[in-house]
Amino acid sequence: MSFLFRFARRFVAGESIQAALAEVKRLNDSGLLVTLDFLGENVASREEAVKAASTYVTMLEEIDRLKLKANVSLKLTQMGLDMGEEFCLEQVERIVSRAADFSNFVRIDMEGSGYTDRTLSVFEKAYKKLGNVGIVLQAYLHRTDKDVDRMIELKARVRLCKGAYAEPATIAIKSMPKIRENYMKLTEKLLKSKIYHGIATHDERLIKATAALAGQLGIAKDAFEFQMLYGIRPKRHLELVREGYNMRVYVPFGTHWLPYFYRRLRERKENVFFIISNLIRG
Ligand code: FDA
Repeated sequence: MSFLFRFARRFVAGESIQAALAEVKRLNDSGLLVTLDFLGENVASREEAVKAASTYVTMLEEIDRLKLKANVSLKLTQMGLDMGEEFCLEQVERIVSRAADFSNFVRIDMEGSGYTDRTLSVFEKAYKKLGNVGIVLQAYLHRTDKDVDRMIELKARVRLCKGAYAEPATIAIKSMPKIRENYMKLTEKLLKSKIYHGIATHDERLIKATAALAGQLGIAKDAFEFQMLYGIRPKRHLELVREGYNMRVYVPFGTHWLPYFYRRLRERKENVFFIISNLIRG
């Protein structure tokens, strides 16, 4: 496992909250905004979910105390979604209320399709009650066009990404050109809504197309933000800041890094080849 962590380390800011906060400060100092993620998903007990929610409360308190430019991102299966929607909502509301004390914001990540409906349901309840919470939608799902319309109707803030889970062709677009096409169609709707959304991608074609589209639509560079993952295209993060865009880096930390790392490997075969060639070389 420690061998694998050497590679995972590129994508993870550290195992402790202190290590992560130091990294947030470093990124802020170079003009980058952050969303901080305490790694964890599919917790096995209510106690674990309550503990994870408490960690998020501490993260929000530390972000405020240290005056960092960071919000938080969380997964509902870490907040006990497998133990019921009502229980999960209680954990989420505790975090979102604490964020509201500091005028901060909570983003709910989107997980595999088995959780989409429940994630949207918990999100809508928390959003209607508290407001300072946003959602992630995945451009590879056929349903997302309708979900984008719903979020715009609610005036909710969306992070749009391609989607990171293995999904069947019955519910997800499988061809990359078609995913890109759908991504831009959805981005256009989001930009036109005049709500502050997050365009989360490392794909240069999509970044360029979004910048061009915003220019054509007369949408200010600070009326939305680009988002990328910690450790992926870090030079591009800084270039986008220099070009005048808001750029937010998703910074994960904690000891439960394996599923997150696995998704990063799935996205890019070169990462897997790199690990295998290191294994062979010894
Ligand atoms: P794509 O995979 O085509 O990558 C474009 C280029 O970026 C590559 O050519 C390479 O240069 C670089 N790159 C991308 N991935 C890399 C990797 N793993 N290692 C090294 N280089 C890489 N998904 C989800 O299902 N639910 C969620 O809540 C989120 N949340 C989220 C937040 C943020 C801020 C981001 C940026 C992404 C997510 N995702 C996500 C992940 C997303 O769905 C998607 O899997 C990845 O962003 C990869 O898709 P890209 O659009 O970046 O393009």
